[in-house]
Amino acid sequence: MSYAIEAKHYDSVTPQKVAFIGLGVMGYPMAGHLAQAGHQVTVYNRNQARAQQWSTQFQQEWACTPAQAAAQAQVVMACVGNDDDLRAVFLGPDGALAGMKAGSLFIDHTTASAQVARELSAIAADQHVSFIDAPISGGQAGAQKGMLSIMCGGQEKDMERARPLMMSYAQACTLMGPTGSGQLCKMVNQIAVVGLLQGLAEAMAFGEQAGLDMERALSVLSKGAAGSWQMDTKGPTMLARDFQPGFTVNWMLKDLDLVAQEALRNGAQLPATRLIQEQFAKIAAQGHQNLDISALFTLLAHSRDAG
Ligand SMILES: NC(=O)c1ccc[n+]([C@@H]2O[C@H](COP(=O)([O-])OP(=O)(O)OC[C@H]3O[C@@H](n4cnc5c(N)ncnc54)[C@H](OP(=O)(O)O)[C@@H]3O)[C@@H](O)[C@H]2O)c1
Repeated sequence: MSYAIEAKHYDSVTPQKVAFIGLGVMGYPMAGHLAQAGHQVTVYNRNQARAQQWSTQFQQEWACTPAQAAAQAQVVMACVGNDDDLRAVFLGPDGALAGMKAGSLFIDHTTASAQVARELSAIAADQHVSFIDAPISGGQAGAQKGMLSIMCGGQEKDMERARPLMMSYAQACTLMGPTGSGQLCKMVNQIAVVGLLQGLAEAMAFGEQAGLDMERALSVLSKGAAGSWQMDTKGPTMLARDFQPGFTVNWMLKDLDLVAQEALRNGAQLPATRLIQEQFAKIAAQGHQNLDISALFTLLAHSRDAG
């Protein structure tokens, strides 16, 4: 895992006491940007060695539990794996909520369900703590550059406090509606991403089979109607058979499961998304769940090339 974060111009804001829980691929650089922007940051990570490493790198504090990290904070952020991980760091005697003061704010950057956002927001409200669900898009590179896109659910009065902090690691930060709306918007994002990626993988495999110089093809196609962020970033890595994450197949399976459950509730038809979900399940069944999602290409590429 790379621990670097890139330099960024930060808006001048009043320094705040914040806590950050979950120093993974995304959380580590996000918390780093908060520290670089001048905030007083206390971090918690389940694996303490990573918390200590972050603390040394950014000259800030680390804590042994989420509750301890949150104890002095005006705002607490989290970026962990899934619904259960979020409950684990938020609830219980050592959870963040136990340490949070009335009037403080919890911002959740985990990609989780809209229901868990509503459930935890209601529990937080009983303790006069505000809650924003704020899943992120932009990948590891976006986190390292501090250029994420953040889709939020909650109340505007809380966004006014949250926005200046989140902008230290984002380039866009939008309130979509009430609690859960950020997670619903992230599901929209994932449906669009997998469609683009499967289309790109099929296009790259077809071009190779047809004997085209696909690097040359990418350079012209990227400037036409098929051009996209996926084509620019994943087209070359597919051709190079480089499937290092990035964003793993495992995480995408989790996200597509959230999408499928929500579609059952709202009646949306997702025929292509369901097929692509099966493709990801095949990759995971081959033991490649920790590859980048562009590994969709491995199911299509000519066997002599498949890595
Ligand atoms: N990676 C991406 O490109 C990307 C992009 C957009 C959104 N996301 C979403 O962002 C979230 C984090 O992704 P990531 O790539 O940063 O994941 P990651 O590298 O696996 O990091 C997960 C973090 O959560 C912590 N964690 C997990 N379960 C926990 C638990 N039960 N109790 C305490 N801590 C726990 C882990 O602690 P340990 O270090 O102790 O394991 C680690 O700090 C996920 O919801 C993912 O879907 C990721």
